[in-house]
Amino acid sequence: MARPITQAGDPVLRKKAKKCQSFGPSLDALATEMLDAMHAADGLGLAAPQIGVPLRVIVIEIPAELDEEGNEIRPSELYVYCNPEIVEASGEEEDQEGCLSVPGYVGQVKRATSVTVKGEDTKGRRIRTKTKGLLARAFQHEIDHINGILFIDRVDSPEKLRRIRPDEEEENGGYRS
Ligand code: CO
Repeated sequence: MARPITQAGDPVLRKKAKKCQSFGPSLDALATEMLDAMHAADGLGLAAPQIGVPLRVIVIEIPAELDEEGNEIRPSELYVYCNPEIVEASGEEEDQEGCLSVPGYVGQVKRATSVTVKGEDTKGRRIRTKTKGLLARAFQHEIDHINGILFIDRVDSPEKLRRIRPDEEEENGGYRS
């Protein structure tokens, strides 16, 4: 069974997570557990504190884009990052976000349009990604998580935070993780 997602109010979500120092099978196992929990909750990304592990590990999976016949236009993209850091950011755009740890709410959040992220994979090899749009938003949301920040902290006015019904959650679009 997938591990449950920690909910706002749990102190693990408000701590600065620890740097990964040793790499290998235990981090692979953690990443697998995170992906399982993310899939079970139907999210696009997850940070280790969201399954109660105070480590700087994030996963993001943007599903494949399909045409009307179900043919793949764009393949799915999977990222597993240990110790991710934003080394470059530019532009600004506001879009909708939600979080598996803050169910029942969505908000308009300003994020950089494009970012360059560096970090390590589960084997400790250095990796780097330059991206924009939804994926750039995903990295910013997940890196916030490992710094103890939730999207609700970044909503700059109360009108930009909205309550949604549980059945609205899935069809709501935007980024949720
Ligand atoms: Co989240």
